[in-house]
Amino acid sequence: MELPEIVTTVRGLRAHVAAWRKDGLRVGLVPTMGALHAGHLFLVEESRKRSERTIVSIFVNPAQFAPHEDFDRYPRALQADAQKLGARADLIFAPSVAEMYPQGYATQIEVGGPSRGLETDFRPHFFAGVATVVAKLLIAAQPDLAVFGEKDYQQLLVIRRLVADLALPIEIVGAPIMREPDGLAMSSRNAYLGPRERAIAGKMNVILRTATSEEQAARALLDAGFDSVDYVAICDAETLGPAGDGPKRILAAAKIGGTRLIDNMEHK
Ligand code: PAF
Repeated sequence: MELPEIVTTVRGLRAHVAAWRKDGLRVGLVPTMGALHAGHLFLVEESRKRSERTIVSIFVNPAQFAPHEDFDRYPRALQADAQKLGARADLIFAPSVAEMYPQGYATQIEVGGPSRGLETDFRPHFFAGVATVVAKLLIAAQPDLAVFGEKDYQQLLVIRRLVADLALPIEIVGAPIMREPDGLAMSSRNAYLGPRERAIAGKMNVILRTATSEEQAARALLDAGFDSVDYVAICDAETLGPAGDGPKRILAAAKIGGTRLIDNMEHK
């Protein structure tokens, strides 16, 4: 099977992109942390629909993990990821930590607006880490478009804000959540779940779909077997501010054992 070439340096990445640009080709980037599943492959398809060359970046970004979080045990499987991508990707960019954050690195990007609340209340370091690495990836690859999943809905809004505020000439494409047959949102972290936990995890999407209020849904998550609920929030879908007359989104984060799961969907 044809496997995509893997480059590990920004210089190598730029050489490929420069050659494609010379040929007038449109370039898409799909930023990931690897451990690819069908949800990621769907993001790759979205890029392929809109561009002639697709780069998948694979980088487990230490800046978006707090010291007590799962950076060390986050699944890493570069060769298996390359096999899964096969001919779907034209290039994998898999930099080392030292390539992205060399000795003396001291720059951080902080996005306000949609970063406030929700994930930030529980993972205060998270969006600065994401915004910094995404800005670096976008500047390194300079693609025409980049695809992100709605699974991380707040992240998607933060990235849209970042790209607008820095006037980066890159289209940000949001792709719908891919779900398992029982509706569990696909996530690399689902690999942490044992069979009992996996059964509980599958109830989150049903609870969000049928929620009548934030309080009712939070209680239902605990009753279903989640050990704790970080939040259930019904927000304005565009700003994540208080819900008004416009489209609404319900978002939740809850833990089972050591695993933290998030999900979100439209709320009627
Ligand atoms: O959504 C993710 O997998 C990550 O947060 C991202 C966007 C690749 C940045 O590390």
